[in-house]
Amino acid sequence: MTLITDTISRAAITDSPLLATLAERWSPRAYDADAVIADDTLTTILEAARWAPSASNSQPARYIVARRGTESFTKIHDALIGFNQTWADSASVLIANVVDTTENTNPWSVYDVGQAVAHLSIQAQHDGIHTHQMGGFDAAALAQAFGLTETQTVISVIALGVLGNIDGLSPELLARESAPRTRKTLDELLLVND
Ligand SMILES: Cc1cc2nc3c(=O)[nH]c(=O)nc-3n(C[C@H](O)[C@H](O)[C@H](O)COP(=O)(O)O)c2cc1C
Repeated sequence: MTLITDTISRAAITDSPLLATLAERWSPRAYDADAVIADDTLTTILEAARWAPSASNSQPARYIVARRGTESFTKIHDALIGFNQTWADSASVLIANVVDTTENTNPWSVYDVGQAVAHLSIQAQHDGIHTHQMGGFDAAALAQAFGLTETQTVISVIALGVLGNIDGLSPELLARESAPRTRKTLDELLLVND
């Protein structure tokens, strides 16, 4: 049996029409291990993060950008939990998303990093690059590996890449890759909708 995991088959089935880029974004685990993201594409993706809003324009997000094959890529990959290591090695780029509270300690810094990564992921999707965010990593190991200061903390890691063949995935990964995409209903999310 051939399972199709292209962007069309994995697009969200939404109750209201969304921007195509939003509906088509999903988090693959099968990447083309030979694909390279062009530098200008990667720069554009990072530019989207740079122009994300932040509280008081404090811009607390920093990024450790690591292309596959570099020592930095290995350092980030080594800090992932085992499950994430099994698939993220095929990504073209791993980015460790850092909150830097050196200049301010407002309560929204982590929120701001998340928003910047959201913008990054949508720009990537628009440019034909898939992304997969991760919380499964050792933040202390990354801090040590990259010499982060006490006011710099890795909040998440995001894999960027080009969709690859799912044939090489383990049965566990294949099951996740082909499982239906689900969400709570909007009614469940709206505490108040007066
Ligand atoms: C902050 C964050 C942490 C995540 N951590 C992991 C992770 O460690 N491993 C993983 O395989 N997926 C991880 N994910 C991906 C989510 O499981 C995924 O976004 C969610 O199931 C919805 O699927 P979709 O992105 O395909 O719509 C994470 C996503 C976010 C936003």
